[in-house]
Amino acid sequence: MTRVTISVPARPYQAVIESGLLTRAGETLRQVLGHPTRLFIVTVARVRNQWGRPLMRSLSDAGFDAKFVEMPDGERHKRISTVEKLAEQLVGLRAERDSAILAFGGGVVGDVAGFLASVYLRGVPVVQLPTTVLAQVDASIGGKTGVNLKAGKNLVGAFHHPRIVLIDPAVLTSLPERQFRAGIYEALKCGVIGRPELFQRLEGVSMKVLRRDAAALEWVIAESVRLKAEVVSADERENGLRRVLNFGHTIGHALEAETAYRHFLHGEAVAWGMVAAANIASAVDRLSQPESQRIARAVLACGKLPRVNVQSRKILGRLQADKKTKNGVVHFVLPTEIGKVEIVNNVPAPVVLEAVDELRRLSR
Ligand SMILES: NC(=O)c1ccc[n+]([C@@H]2O[C@H](COP(=O)([O-])OP(=O)(O)OC[C@H]3O[C@@H](n4cnc5c(N)ncnc54)[C@H](O)[C@@H]3O)[C@@H](O)[C@H]2O)c1
Ligand SMILES: [Zn+2]
Repeated sequence: MTRVTISVPARPYQAVIESGLLTRAGETLRQVLGHPTRLFIVTVARVRNQWGRPLMRSLSDAGFDAKFVEMPDGERHKRISTVEKLAEQLVGLRAERDSAILAFGGGVVGDVAGFLASVYLRGVPVVQLPTTVLAQVDASIGGKTGVNLKAGKNLVGAFHHPRIVLIDPAVLTSLPERQFRAGIYEALKCGVIGRPELFQRLEGVSMKVLRRDAAALEWVIAESVRLKAEVVSADERENGLRRVLNFGHTIGHALEAETAYRHFLHGEAVAWGMVAAANIASAVDRLSQPESQRIARAVLACGKLPRVNVQSRKILGRLQADKKTKNGVVHFVLPTEIGKVEIVNNVPAPVVLEAVDELRRLSR
């Protein structure tokens, strides 16, 4: 078992990572939530059908009065209307101030349930039980919650840190392979940002082997959580340091948006974004060519990525209009070595265009 503390000023909390933790969720929560509490488990049908039974048994055994509250599956349901429907259900079930919400699912459930908890009765406690790699290594840590608007993703939300994050890598056995890999790219990202050993471990391993090696998987997730916890603890609200978590995301987000969020899973777009950022870093002499190639090789070795078939100019245009751009200059998070990144402000446009063209060539 690994415990990682996220030291945010208001109330530090822990992420607990252990294979099989789901079946012990009740006793772990008892220690954190204390007095008899009613629990409302926000989830989707798929996760409930796979893993709902052992979770419910554990919670009941620990004396909790727990109920499932379902929302429809998928990013397109990450909307205010879903939060409203869930809140109406909670009222119907008489959820009051002695209640807590358990977010039981991927990043979509985590964001919706977390936001619901931040506004229901002006705020009730939330516990995160992430069930995708992406949610375990990234979305469940750091307190960001929210929903999408027509105008863009995550435009309405709140900071609402969980009381605890319960991470059970065993639930990943039912995750489709593509989803598994998409989350691993975010772990690889953590390696490049500040965990060279994590990078090394991931660069050598086959995804098939990693999926079946419970100890290795637990370690990879724990290292990623440690990295995110360190960054979030140092900079809760993303003014400075927290931006390093956007490594691979500048071009990644542009690729996602340019393909209307239909072509890539988020982690896959970030994977391409990391390859591009590594190329840019060596083009502007911040990173040696061999290290840059090492990053690209590690990303590409994870498996086949959806093809990049977009115009480089369109990507550049998006970057220049992106909210992370100040004064028309793109802020790139670029590696200077494996395990270290910096924020660079003045990447010339031709370098960006060339990096995207290189993605197109690589994906042919
Ligand atoms: N709050 C944050 O800091 C943060 C950070 C990163 C991403 N996010 C958000 O996370 C979301 C993406 O999360 P995601 O990739 O987990 O997608 P997701 O929540 O849509 O889950 C992907 C699919 O996997 C299914 N699933 C979940 N767990 C499963 C399991 N154990 N077995 C089988 N199937 C399972 C889900 O039902 C869903 O169909 C995005 O909305 C993104 O904005 C938030
Ligand atoms: Zn991401």
